[in-house]
Amino acid sequence: MTVTKEKILVIGACGQIGVELTSALRQLYGNDNVLASDLREEHPLLKGTGPYVTCDVMNKEMLHVLILRHNITQVYLLAAILSATGEKNPGLAWHINMQSLLNVLEIAKEEKLHKIYWPSSIAVFGATSPRENTPQHTVIEPTTIYGISKYAGERWCEYYNKNYGVDVRSLRYPGLISYKSAPGGGTTDYAVEIYHEALRDQDYECFLSEDTYLPMMYMSDAIRATIELMEAPIEKIKIRSSYNLSGMSFSPKEIGACIQKHIPEFKLTYKPDFRQQIANGWPQSIDDSNAQEDWGWKPKYDLDSMTEDMLLNLKSQYS
Ligand code: NAD
Ligand code: SER
Repeated sequence: MTVTKEKILVIGACGQIGVELTSALRQLYGNDNVLASDLREEHPLLKGTGPYVTCDVMNKEMLHVLILRHNITQVYLLAAILSATGEKNPGLAWHINMQSLLNVLEIAKEEKLHKIYWPSSIAVFGATSPRENTPQHTVIEPTTIYGISKYAGERWCEYYNKNYGVDVRSLRYPGLISYKSAPGGGTTDYAVEIYHEALRDQDYECFLSEDTYLPMMYMSDAIRATIELMEAPIEKIKIRSSYNLSGMSFSPKEIGACIQKHIPEFKLTYKPDFRQQIANGWPQSIDDSNAQEDWGWKPKYDLDSMTEDMLLNLKSQYS
């Protein structure tokens, strides 16, 4: 099915999520109706699949002109600085994560754009939130600058929806695992690196300790969740800050054991670094019953099926 009449701008299209989300949106809306943009050079997997422009989301005037020139009706804002990189430069992470969102929300309000998508994260939760089955509504005291910026962003989204009618929708993604594009500086990146190293060297030194449980999700589930949320009728979207979203939870030891079923010689060692402290403040598992009830969310992949698919696809990349 190709949905027409919408013109979509994806900002941050060359990142881990952007590459796959842009491709999925192009399949749904038609290649020419999805304009990909990023600060970086066009990602090789996007080349030849649709229009691409270089754009800095921090330049509001340039962004506004781009949106008007291309008759954009929906924006997916994916540009951000993630948790681990953010701790190295908190001022920059706050500035980019906040100002990019405010630029997009303000233009959406002025130009009455149809829909905006902006992702939040499990990083909004801190050490004072319940760690298991973390509820949608609970104590939220993030301790990383990334989490603080995501929580503030959620409040801005709800504010623009309630006060200006901007149809902005959001998901609190868990750590995302993908084989098409590399992760961009998060605490959950180990769960992607481990597959690459298992195939390349049969050896991986993990930067988190063996029993660090975190909520995770396979990229194809995350893309489907995003599209299902954005396609849901407006009356079904009851949470205007950001929806909890759950896929699976595992520790480094468990993902290692799962990989060893396919690559028995794989060796996993542990050398926790500054990212351990970030992970220690995050939930171990997430209660996403609001997403299930409001717009019918259900994940497909578990650790075993994801591992099988990751290894199959990465094997063909390495050969
Ligand atoms: P990423 O770092 O892989 O990609 C972000 C992209 O934004 C990059 O290609 C970067 O070049 C681009 N960008 C940075 N600054 C820009 C600017 N000023 N103008 C235009 N483009 C700019 O990140 P990702 O993993 O794809 O994450 C996308 C969104 O999803 C972020 O908001 C992130 O916080 C959120 N998220 C990601 C995960 C995950 O596990 N990947 C989990 C939770 C939430
Ligand atoms: N995967 C992201 C990170 O680790 C979670 O938002 O930063």
